[in-house]
Amino acid sequence: QKFVQDELPQELRDLVSNLPMENGWAEKHLYQYQGFWYNPFILQALVTLQKHFHANDNDIFLVSIPKSGTTWLKALAFSIVNRSKYPNFQNHPLINNNPHALVPFLEFDLNSSNEFLPNFNSLSRSSSLFSSSPRIISTHFPYVSLPNSVKESSCKIVYLCRDPKDILISRWHFTNKLRKGITDNFSLEDAFEMFCKGVSPGGPFWDHMLGYWNEGMKSSNNKKIMFLKYEEIKMNPLLVLKELAEFLGFPFSREEEAVGVMDDILKLCSFDNLSNLEVNTNGKTSFGVENNIFFRRGQVGDWKNYLTTEMVEKLNNIIANKLTEHGIQF
Ligand code: A3P
Repeated sequence: QKFVQDELPQELRDLVSNLPMENGWAEKHLYQYQGFWYNPFILQALVTLQKHFHANDNDIFLVSIPKSGTTWLKALAFSIVNRSKYPNFQNHPLINNNPHALVPFLEFDLNSSNEFLPNFNSLSRSSSLFSSSPRIISTHFPYVSLPNSVKESSCKIVYLCRDPKDILISRWHFTNKLRKGITDNFSLEDAFEMFCKGVSPGGPFWDHMLGYWNEGMKSSNNKKIMFLKYEEIKMNPLLVLKELAEFLGFPFSREEEAVGVMDDILKLCSFDNLSNLEVNTNGKTSFGVENNIFFRRGQVGDWKNYLTTEMVEKLNNIIANKLTEHGIQF
């Protein structure tokens, strides 16, 4: 079990020995590297990927801050890009596969030997996933830590974030599901304090969002980075789907629009549809967690059911100072 780790292997102890450390969420400790907090296994993958990963010019990267709706974005992007191969939405890979099985995570699934990482031991778990063209690859890494070839190639990056208050609640539930049966419950008060200090996996959330936001604002990057919010997709799914398809280089034709292909994709990828599929109620991901852990409520504003007035005020102040000030609004 990689998520709650008492004893780290020597290799990882060496890696983290000089890094700032804090208590973890679903891991024993988090370590700070290049300004962001990591579970040591993910940190190890990051360091290796920074050395060895080679991006292709036609790669598509789906980047998100965890619990922003990565699963949803994977389903949408996969359906858009592969619709000529899989035009039948009643008999589609998403019916029998969790989105994480179709769009791999750089840090979990590339953690094995394949053409990009010659120095890794062979697990080859999902190298076939990386052989599609274009490759769709996801990651939670912050912009500053992306392997150089991702920044230098003309690959595309879709960045997804979400109201931090909903991210917190989603992450807190997710953490307790991972801790279940292994260690005690993580209180919302503790999660809140750590989140506000920036100490959450992949945090500080504000620097994660700002990193991609600021890069996307550069004129040289406006064809490279698309900045999306969970709330925007919820509010205007058709428009976002259309813009996403255009950005990815797979625009919908008039004929497709006329016969309702966009509606079909939205229906296929909807929370109600995906969360009720057998594969997502009973299956497991390649990295060992149950697929159902990625589907909880799928709504905007669930934080209202959990956070006290004081908590909301404190988090809203952080959002105002760190994000709204720079143009990111929720
Ligand atoms: P909640 O915990 O608020 O319900 P990630 O995919 O980045 O891990 O994010 C998980 C969050 O996205 C969870 O939020 C989950 O319910 C929601 N989600 C998963 N699939 C979704 C979908 N198809 N549509 C909308 N939300 C979805």
